[in-house]
Amino acid sequence: MENIKAGILGTGFYVPEKILTNADLEKMMDTSDEWITTRTGIKERHIVGDKQTTSDLAMFASQKALKNAEVNIKEIDCIIAATITPDMPFPSTACILQDKIGAKTVCAFDVNAACCGFIYALTMAKNFVENNTFKKVLVVAADTLSRIADWTDRATCVLFGDGAGAAVIGRAVDDRKVILGSYLGADGSAWDLLNMPGGGSRFPTTHKTVDDKLHFLKMNGNSVFKLAVRSMTNAADKVLSECNLKNEDIDLVIPHQANLRIINALAQRLNAPLEKVWVNVTRYGNVSGASVPIAMAEADASGKLKDGQIVLLDAFGAGLTWASAVIRW
Ligand code: UT7
Repeated sequence: MENIKAGILGTGFYVPEKILTNADLEKMMDTSDEWITTRTGIKERHIVGDKQTTSDLAMFASQKALKNAEVNIKEIDCIIAATITPDMPFPSTACILQDKIGAKTVCAFDVNAACCGFIYALTMAKNFVENNTFKKVLVVAADTLSRIADWTDRATCVLFGDGAGAAVIGRAVDDRKVILGSYLGADGSAWDLLNMPGGGSRFPTTHKTVDDKLHFLKMNGNSVFKLAVRSMTNAADKVLSECNLKNEDIDLVIPHQANLRIINALAQRLNAPLEKVWVNVTRYGNVSGASVPIAMAEADASGKLKDGQIVLLDAFGAGLTWASAVIRW
Protein backbone atom coordinates (compact mmCIF):
# COMPACT_ATOMS: atom_id res chain seq x y z
CA MET A 1 0.00 0.00 0.00
CA GLU A 2 1.14 3.52 -0.82
CA ASN A 3 2.71 5.25 2.18
CA ILE A 4 0.79 8.53 2.31
CA LYS A 5 1.84 11.16 4.84
CA ALA A 6 -0.80 13.70 5.84
CA GLY A 7 0.29 17.29 6.28
CA ILE A 8 -0.97 20.79 6.79
CA LEU A 9 -1.43 22.54 3.45
CA GLY A 10 -2.59 25.87 4.84
CA THR A 11 -3.84 27.64 7.95
CA GLY A 12 -6.11 30.59 8.69
CA PHE A 13 -8.05 32.21 11.50
CA TYR A 14 -10.72 34.80 12.10
CA VAL A 15 -11.82 36.72 15.17
CA PRO A 16 -14.79 39.08 15.19
CA GLU A 17 -14.15 42.83 15.20
CA LYS A 18 -15.71 43.75 18.53
CA ILE A 19 -13.21 43.75 21.41
CA LEU A 20 -14.26 43.53 25.06
CA THR A 21 -11.48 44.69 27.38
CA ASN A 22 -11.07 44.09 31.09
CA ALA A 23 -11.86 47.79 31.56
CA ASP A 24 -15.19 47.20 29.77
CA LEU A 25 -15.91 44.29 32.13
CA GLU A 26 -15.14 46.46 35.16
CA LYS A 27 -18.08 48.64 34.10
CA MET A 28 -20.39 45.63 33.74
CA MET A 29 -19.71 43.68 36.97
CA ASP A 30 -17.77 43.51 40.23
CA THR A 31 -14.37 42.59 38.77
CA SER A 32 -11.04 44.26 38.05
CA ASP A 33 -8.37 44.28 35.38
CA GLU A 34 -5.93 43.41 38.17
CA TRP A 35 -7.86 40.23 39.17
CA ILE A 36 -8.40 39.03 35.60
CA THR A 37 -4.78 39.73 34.60
CA THR A 38 -3.12 38.10 37.60
CA ARG A 39 -5.45 35.06 37.70
CA THR A 40 -5.68 34.41 33.95
CA GLY A 41 -3.37 36.66 31.90
CA ILE A 42 -6.36 37.77 29.79
CA LYS A 43 -6.52 41.47 28.83
CA GLU A 44 -9.21 41.38 26.13
CA ARG A 45 -11.37 39.04 24.07
CA HIS A 46 -13.28 39.29 20.76
CA ILE A 47 -17.07 39.01 20.72
CA VAL A 48 -19.36 38.10 17.80
CA GLY A 49 -21.64 40.66 16.24
CA ASP A 50 -25.38 40.39 16.98
CA LYS A 51 -26.14 38.73 13.64
CA GLN A 52 -22.99 36.58 13.38
CA THR A 53 -23.07 32.84 14.06
CA THR A 54 -20.44 30.17 14.68
CA SER A 55 -20.64 29.08 11.01
CA ASP A 56 -19.86 32.66 9.93
CA LEU A 57 -16.65 32.67 11.97
CA ALA A 58 -15.85 29.19 10.62
CA MET A 59 -16.40 30.38 7.06
CA PHE A 60 -14.00 33.33 7.33
CA ALA A 61 -11.28 31.19 8.94
CA SER A 62 -11.79 28.44 6.33
CA GLN A 63 -11.55 30.89 3.42
CA LYS A 64 -8.24 32.17 4.79
CA ALA A 65 -6.88 28.63 5.24
CA LEU A 66 -7.92 27.68 1.69
CA LYS A 67 -6.23 30.81 0.30
CA ASN A 68 -3.11 30.13 2.33
CA ALA A 69 -3.07 26.52 1.05
CA GLU A 70 -3.78 27.64 -2.53
CA VAL A 71 -6.56 25.06 -2.57
CA ASN A 72 -9.90 25.69 -4.27
CA ILE A 73 -12.98 24.80 -2.21
CA LYS A 74 -13.98 22.38 -5.01
CA GLU A 75 -10.94 20.24 -4.15
CA ILE A 76 -12.15 19.70 -0.56
CA ASP A 77 -13.89 16.34 -0.14
CA CYS A 78 -14.62 16.44 3.60
CA ILE A 79 -15.39 19.16 6.16
CA ILE A 80 -15.00 18.58 9.90
CA ALA A 81 -16.15 21.34 12.22
CA ALA A 82 -15.20 21.24 15.90
CA THR A 83 -17.53 23.27 18.09
CA ILE A 84 -19.49 23.27 21.33
CA THR A 85 -21.52 26.30 20.28
CA PRO A 86 -23.07 25.09 17.01
CA ASP A 87 -25.42 27.35 15.06
CA MET A 88 -28.20 25.06 16.36
CA PRO A 89 -28.38 21.53 17.89
CA PHE A 90 -28.81 20.07 14.39
CA PRO A 91 -27.99 19.98 11.55
CA SER A 92 -24.25 20.15 12.05
CA THR A 93 -22.44 23.45 11.76
CA ALA A 94 -20.22 21.67 9.20
CA CYS A 95 -23.27 21.23 6.93
CA ILE A 96 -24.24 24.89 7.31
CA LEU A 97 -20.63 25.85 6.60
CA GLN A 98 -20.56 23.56 3.54
CA ASP A 99 -23.50 25.48 2.11
CA LYS A 100 -22.08 28.92 2.98
CA ILE A 101 -18.65 28.18 1.59
CA GLY A 102 -19.88 26.52 -1.60
CA ALA A 103 -18.40 23.06 -1.05
CA LYS A 104 -21.33 21.31 -2.77
CA THR A 105 -22.20 17.80 -1.55
CA VAL A 106 -19.04 16.65 0.24
CA CYS A 107 -19.04 14.79 3.59
CA ALA A 108 -19.57 17.21 6.49
CA PHE A 109 -19.91 16.59 10.20
CA ASP A 110 -19.23 18.13 13.63
CA VAL A 111 -16.96 16.96 16.43
CA ASN A 112 -17.77 17.80 20.04
CA ALA A 113 -14.57 17.53 22.07
CA ALA A 114 -14.64 21.07 23.52
CA CYS A 115 -11.19 22.67 23.74
CA CYS A 116 -9.64 19.52 22.21
CA GLY A 117 -11.96 19.66 19.21
CA PHE A 118 -9.37 20.84 16.71
CA ILE A 119 -6.82 18.16 17.60
CA TYR A 120 -9.52 15.44 17.59
CA ALA A 121 -10.67 16.64 14.13
CA LEU A 122 -7.09 16.98 12.88
CA THR A 123 -6.44 13.36 13.86
CA MET A 124 -9.50 12.18 11.92
CA ALA A 125 -8.42 14.24 8.91
CA LYS A 126 -4.91 12.73 9.09
CA ASN A 127 -6.38 9.22 9.08
CA PHE A 128 -8.83 10.00 6.27
CA VAL A 129 -5.97 11.30 4.10
CA GLU A 130 -3.52 8.53 4.98
CA ASN A 131 -5.99 5.72 4.28
CA ASN A 132 -7.08 7.51 1.09
CA THR A 133 -10.71 7.96 2.16
CA PHE A 134 -10.46 11.66 1.30
CA LYS A 135 -7.78 13.69 -0.49
CA LYS A 136 -8.25 17.11 1.08
CA VAL A 137 -10.03 17.74 4.36
CA LEU A 138 -11.04 21.15 5.72
CA VAL A 139 -10.73 21.14 9.52
CA VAL A 140 -12.18 24.13 11.33
CA ALA A 141 -12.74 24.84 15.01
CA ALA A 142 -15.12 27.69 15.78
CA ASP A 143 -16.84 28.86 18.91
CA THR A 144 -19.04 31.69 20.10
CA LEU A 145 -18.70 31.17 23.84
CA SER A 146 -20.03 34.67 24.51
CA ARG A 147 -23.44 33.26 23.50
CA ILE A 148 -23.45 30.69 26.33
CA ALA A 149 -21.54 32.70 28.96
CA ASP A 150 -23.54 33.81 31.99
CA TRP A 151 -22.76 37.53 31.96
CA THR A 152 -23.84 37.77 35.61
CA ASP A 153 -21.28 35.14 36.72
CA ARG A 154 -17.92 36.90 37.03
CA ALA A 155 -16.16 33.61 37.80
CA THR A 156 -16.71 32.33 34.24
CA CYS A 157 -17.76 35.05 31.79
CA VAL A 158 -14.49 37.00 31.96
CA LEU A 159 -12.57 33.95 30.68
CA PHE A 160 -14.07 33.38 27.25
CA GLY A 161 -14.02 34.84 23.76
CA ASP A 162 -15.18 34.04 20.22
CA GLY A 163 -13.20 33.04 17.13
CA ALA A 164 -12.29 30.36 14.61
CA GLY A 165 -9.17 28.65 13.31
CA ALA A 166 -8.87 26.36 10.29
CA ALA A 167 -6.43 24.15 8.44
CA VAL A 168 -6.50 22.32 5.12
CA ILE A 169 -5.17 18.78 5.49
CA GLY A 170 -3.94 16.74 2.54
CA ARG A 171 -0.94 14.78 1.28
CA ALA A 172 2.14 16.51 2.69
CA VAL A 173 3.96 18.57 0.07
CA ASP A 174 7.78 18.12 -0.06
CA ASP A 175 7.63 16.25 3.28
CA ARG A 176 6.76 19.52 5.05
CA LYS A 177 4.22 20.24 7.80
CA VAL A 178 3.73 16.49 8.33
CA ILE A 179 1.43 15.41 11.16
CA LEU A 180 3.71 12.86 12.83
CA GLY A 181 1.29 11.60 15.46
CA SER A 182 -1.40 12.42 17.97
CA TYR A 183 -2.75 11.24 21.28
CA LEU A 184 -6.41 11.57 22.29
CA GLY A 185 -8.12 10.73 25.57
CA ALA A 186 -11.11 11.49 27.78
CA ASP A 187 -12.44 10.95 31.28
CA GLY A 188 -16.21 11.08 31.18
CA SER A 189 -16.51 10.57 34.93
CA ALA A 190 -15.62 14.26 35.33
CA TRP A 191 -18.21 15.55 32.84
CA ASP A 192 -19.89 17.59 35.58
CA LEU A 193 -16.88 19.88 36.11
CA LEU A 194 -17.53 21.82 32.90
CA ASN A 195 -20.75 21.76 30.92
CA MET A 196 -23.90 23.47 29.71
CA PRO A 197 -26.72 21.37 31.21
CA GLY A 198 -29.83 22.68 29.43
CA GLY A 199 -31.32 22.12 26.01
CA GLY A 200 -30.54 18.40 25.59
CA SER A 201 -32.48 15.25 26.51
CA ARG A 202 -31.57 15.55 30.19
CA PHE A 203 -33.03 19.04 30.61
CA PRO A 204 -35.15 19.83 27.55
CA THR A 205 -35.77 23.55 27.25
CA THR A 206 -38.61 24.84 29.43
CA HIS A 207 -39.33 28.14 31.14
CA LYS A 208 -37.84 26.55 34.27
CA THR A 209 -34.53 25.59 32.58
CA VAL A 210 -34.25 29.18 31.42
CA ASP A 211 -35.11 30.56 34.87
CA ASP A 212 -32.60 28.14 36.44
CA LYS A 213 -29.89 29.35 34.02
CA LEU A 214 -29.26 25.86 32.68
CA HIS A 215 -28.47 27.21 29.21
CA PHE A 216 -25.24 28.80 30.38
CA LEU A 217 -21.74 27.37 30.71
CA LYS A 218 -20.98 26.06 34.24
CA MET A 219 -17.48 25.34 35.48
CA ASN A 220 -15.71 24.26 38.65
CA GLY A 221 -12.61 26.34 37.88
CA ASN A 222 -10.31 25.08 40.63
CA SER A 223 -10.78 21.38 39.84
CA VAL A 224 -10.48 21.95 36.11
CA PHE A 225 -7.27 23.95 36.64
CA LYS A 226 -5.50 21.12 38.46
CA LEU A 227 -6.61 18.46 35.97
CA ALA A 228 -5.67 20.70 33.03
CA VAL A 229 -2.00 20.89 33.96
CA ARG A 230 -1.74 17.17 34.75
CA SER A 231 -3.59 16.01 31.63
CA MET A 232 -1.78 18.30 29.21
CA THR A 233 1.60 17.23 30.57
CA ASN A 234 0.62 13.58 30.23
CA ALA A 235 -0.75 14.10 26.70
CA ALA A 236 2.52 15.78 25.68
CA ASP A 237 4.62 12.93 27.13
CA LYS A 238 2.50 10.33 25.33
CA VAL A 239 2.65 11.88 21.86
CA LEU A 240 6.36 12.70 22.12
CA SER A 241 7.15 9.13 23.08
CA GLU A 242 4.96 7.79 20.22
CA CYS A 243 6.97 9.98 17.82
CA ASN A 244 10.33 9.00 19.38
CA LEU A 245 10.97 12.58 20.44
CA LYS A 246 12.10 14.20 23.68
CA ASN A 247 11.04 17.43 25.37
CA GLU A 248 14.20 19.16 24.16
CA ASP A 249 13.29 18.38 20.52
CA ILE A 250 10.27 20.71 20.70
CA ASP A 251 10.77 24.01 18.87
CA LEU A 252 7.33 25.43 19.58
CA VAL A 253 4.54 24.48 21.99
CA ILE A 254 1.07 25.57 20.92
CA PRO A 255 -1.07 24.97 24.00
CA HIS A 256 -4.78 25.46 24.48
CA GLN A 257 -5.18 29.04 25.69
CA ALA A 258 -7.35 28.81 28.83
CA ASN A 259 -5.22 30.59 31.38
CA LEU A 260 -1.65 31.95 31.34
CA ARG A 261 -0.97 30.22 34.68
CA ILE A 262 -1.89 26.84 33.14
CA ILE A 263 0.34 27.57 30.13
CA ASN A 264 3.26 28.56 32.38
CA ALA A 265 2.83 25.46 34.54
CA LEU A 266 2.79 23.26 31.42
CA ALA A 267 5.91 24.97 30.02
CA GLN A 268 7.69 24.39 33.32
CA ARG A 269 6.82 20.69 33.33
CA LEU A 270 7.93 20.31 29.69
CA ASN A 271 11.11 22.21 30.50
CA ALA A 272 10.27 24.57 27.64
CA PRO A 273 11.52 28.15 27.86
CA LEU A 274 8.67 30.65 27.44
CA GLU A 275 10.02 31.89 24.09
CA LYS A 276 9.18 28.41 22.76
CA VAL A 277 5.53 28.69 23.79
CA TRP A 278 2.91 30.50 21.70
CA VAL A 279 0.71 32.68 23.92
CA ASN A 280 -2.31 34.65 22.74
CA VAL A 281 -4.71 34.13 25.66
CA THR A 282 -3.93 37.75 26.59
CA ARG A 283 -5.63 38.97 23.39
CA TYR A 284 -8.39 36.42 22.78
CA GLY A 285 -9.21 34.77 26.12
CA ASN A 286 -10.28 31.12 25.98
CA VAL A 287 -11.83 30.38 22.56
CA SER A 288 -12.32 26.66 23.31
CA GLY A 289 -11.40 24.43 20.34
CA ALA A 290 -10.47 27.44 18.22
CA SER A 291 -7.60 28.41 20.56
CA VAL A 292 -5.07 25.93 19.15
CA PRO A 293 -5.71 26.52 15.41
CA ILE A 294 -5.81 30.31 15.89
CA ALA A 295 -2.43 30.12 17.62
CA MET A 296 -1.09 27.75 14.94
CA ALA A 297 -2.26 30.07 12.14
CA GLU A 298 -0.65 33.05 13.91
CA ALA A 299 2.61 31.16 14.39
CA ASP A 300 2.51 30.06 10.72
CA ALA A 301 1.91 33.63 9.50
CA SER A 302 4.61 35.05 11.79
CA GLY A 303 7.36 33.33 9.80
CA LYS A 304 8.82 32.14 13.08
CA LEU A 305 8.43 28.48 12.14
CA LYS A 306 11.23 27.05 10.00
CA ASP A 307 11.21 23.86 7.90
CA GLY A 308 11.87 20.77 9.97
CA GLN A 309 10.97 22.34 13.32
CA ILE A 310 8.95 20.27 15.77
CA VAL A 311 5.62 21.77 16.86
CA LEU A 312 3.62 20.33 19.75
CA LEU A 313 -0.14 20.98 19.95
CA ASP A 314 -1.58 20.29 23.41
CA ALA A 315 -5.11 20.79 24.73
CA PHE A 316 -7.52 20.02 27.53
CA GLY A 317 -11.21 20.71 27.99
CA ALA A 318 -14.77 19.70 28.82
CA GLY A 319 -15.60 16.02 28.74
CA LEU A 320 -13.11 15.94 30.23
CA THR A 321 -10.98 15.54 27.13
CA TRP A 322 -7.29 15.87 26.36
CA ALA A 323 -5.37 15.79 23.10
CA SER A 324 -1.91 16.37 21.69
CA ALA A 325 -0.28 16.21 18.27
CA VAL A 326 3.18 16.66 16.81
CA ILE A 327 3.80 18.34 13.46
CA ARG A 328 7.19 18.43 11.76
CA TRP A 329 7.03 21.84 10.05
O1 UT7 B 1 -10.86 25.59 28.52
C1 UT7 B 1 -11.38 24.67 29.41
C2 UT7 B 1 -10.59 24.56 30.58
N1 UT7 B 1 -10.84 25.65 31.50
C3 UT7 B 1 -9.86 25.99 32.29
O2 UT7 B 1 -8.80 25.44 32.14
C4 UT7 B 1 -10.11 26.96 33.40
C5 UT7 B 1 -9.38 26.48 34.61
N2 UT7 B 1 -9.58 27.31 35.79
C6 UT7 B 1 -9.03 28.51 35.92
O3 UT7 B 1 -8.43 29.03 35.00
C7 UT7 B 1 -9.13 29.20 37.26
O4 UT7 B 1 -9.61 28.29 38.21
C8 UT7 B 1 -10.03 30.45 37.25
C9 UT7 B 1 -9.37 31.57 36.46
C10 UT7 B 1 -11.38 30.13 36.62
C11 UT7 B 1 -10.27 30.97 38.65
O5 UT7 B 1 -9.03 31.25 39.30
P1 UT7 B 1 -8.77 30.77 40.80
O6 UT7 B 1 -7.45 31.26 41.16
O7 UT7 B 1 -9.04 29.29 40.81
O8 UT7 B 1 -9.83 31.61 41.59
P2 UT7 B 1 -11.05 31.09 42.49
O9 UT7 B 1 -12.13 30.49 41.63
O10 UT7 B 1 -10.50 30.24 43.59
O11 UT7 B 1 -11.60 32.44 43.10
C12 UT7 B 1 -10.80 33.20 44.00
C13 UT7 B 1 -11.58 34.42 44.43
C14 UT7 B 1 -12.98 34.13 44.94
O12 UT7 B 1 -13.23 35.01 46.01
P3 UT7 B 1 -13.12 34.48 47.53
O13 UT7 B 1 -14.10 33.35 47.63
O14 UT7 B 1 -11.69 34.03 47.69
O15 UT7 B 1 -13.47 35.69 48.32
C15 UT7 B 1 -13.87 34.50 43.78
O16 UT7 B 1 -15.16 34.90 44.20
O17 UT7 B 1 -11.75 35.31 43.31
C16 UT7 B 1 -13.13 35.66 43.19
N3 UT7 B 1 -13.42 35.88 41.78
C17 UT7 B 1 -13.31 37.08 41.17
N4 UT7 B 1 -12.96 38.29 41.62
C18 UT7 B 1 -12.91 39.29 40.73
C19 UT7 B 1 -13.81 34.95 40.88
N5 UT7 B 1 -13.95 35.54 39.66
C20 UT7 B 1 -13.64 36.85 39.83
C21 UT7 B 1 -13.60 37.96 38.95
N6 UT7 B 1 -13.22 39.16 39.44
N7 UT7 B 1 -13.88 37.84 37.63
